[in-house]
Amino acid sequence: MDNTEKTLILIKPDAVKNSQIGKILEMYEKNNFNILAMKMIWMNEKLAAKHYEEHIGKEFYTRLVDFMTSGRLVAAVLQGEDIINRVRKLHGCTDPSKAEAGTIRQLFATDKTHNVVHASDCPETANKEIHIFFSEAEIFDN
Ligand code: PPS
Repeated sequence: MDNTEKTLILIKPDAVKNSQIGKILEMYEKNNFNILAMKMIWMNEKLAAKHYEEHIGKEFYTRLVDFMTSGRLVAAVLQGEDIINRVRKLHGCTDPSKAEAGTIRQLFATDKTHNVVHASDCPETANKEIHIFFSEAEIFDN
């Protein structure tokens, strides 16, 4: 059965500052994740509130938004078979101290705030998040 999906990833400001964009993109490409769209942006509080809507009010929300608005980040749309699960597996656990060996967070992340990458967690979220960062015209078909 064809389970081709799209997902949104963010390469967070810590990874951009530490010159890890290329290494992370290489890991996506080595896994045959198809990059359909990509841009560099500086998130503001309004965009952060849209993207992290479900976390508003949580204990870590202000820390998360302060970090995500602290510098440039890379947003991209990836496509592939079962891509949502596969990307999350490659990223590893939110808390890098618990991330499996060889995952992006185990290799590059510092803590639960400075954890290098974001990925959508289900198809509904992916559809919402992709359209926060990209118009349909900016997303290539293949
Ligand atoms: S939850 O509550 O289980 O849904 O949260 P979780 O999926 O673990 O994390 C959601 C995003 O919040 C970030 N996060 C934190 N930031 C700062 N401090 C703390 N303690 C913290 N805990 C979680 C985490 O990096 C997730 O960001 P994204 O961009 O979604 O990966």
